[in-house]
Amino acid sequence: MKTYIVGNWKLNFTVGEASIYLHKLLKAMPNYRDVGVVVAPSTLAIQPLSLQTDRHKIKLAAQNAFYRDYGAYTGEISFSQLRGVVDYCIVGHSERRYVLGEDDKMIAKKVEAAIRNKITPILCIGETESERAFGETADVIRDQLLGGLSEVGDDDLSKVIVAYEPVWAISSTKSSRIASPDEISEVVKLIRRILADTYGIESAEEVPVLFGGSVKPSNAGAYLTVPGVNGLLVGGASLILSEFIDIIEVAKRVRS
Ligand code: 13P
Repeated sequence: MKTYIVGNWKLNFTVGEASIYLHKLLKAMPNYRDVGVVVAPSTLAIQPLSLQTDRHKIKLAAQNAFYRDYGAYTGEISFSQLRGVVDYCIVGHSERRYVLGEDDKMIAKKVEAAIRNKITPILCIGETESERAFGETADVIRDQLLGGLSEVGDDDLSKVIVAYEPVWAISSTKSSRIASPDEISEVVKLIRRILADTYGIESAEEVPVLFGGSVKPSNAGAYLTVPGVNGLLVGGASLILSEFIDIIEVAKRVRS
């Protein structure tokens, strides 16, 4: 299985800035067969970047899309409109769950619509700080994972990527804490167990599981060597080209 390094740019970069970044990244990057590099620009930048990128080196992800293909849904963009333009779409990011009010039902429809349109959903799940403090992590992970996959049949599980992003570990500052490899390992094991119980052991092993939450070049190696982790979903550090390249280099070293 490939190791995935996905940069989630969130609400950052103008189209011009995104284009310059991609130009530099393409120039700096050889084609690593074992490392799949993906960036998720803002919706506005997706189309121009899709014409600019070399998909063998860097693939594109949308940060979100709507599950209906067309209709009276002002402000939305559909997976069918993104079909052929992006290879991946982040679905159910905690910022969409908690800031924009998405629930598991809507997220499940988005996962289904992505697969139907030949876009790989990167299904994000993760507990908040208070859920962890109250010992609810396992229940939250189970609910979000099975909720998000509720419209995915046995044959389609291999078309999904899961990302474990504990909300408390996202955008950590010096005063807040980051996830330890042991904490990640425990949840990733749980994710694989739930997938195995629901879809069978073989199918469960085929699902890439990424980790996200304050990933930096300095901790990428430790996170990538957690058993069962197949890649990283990088926010803040992906906005700094040199840091993102360093993380890709770490992934390459871990793989070789
Ligand atoms: P940070 O790497 O900035 O913590 O963001 C993680 C994230 O939310 C990626 O989707």
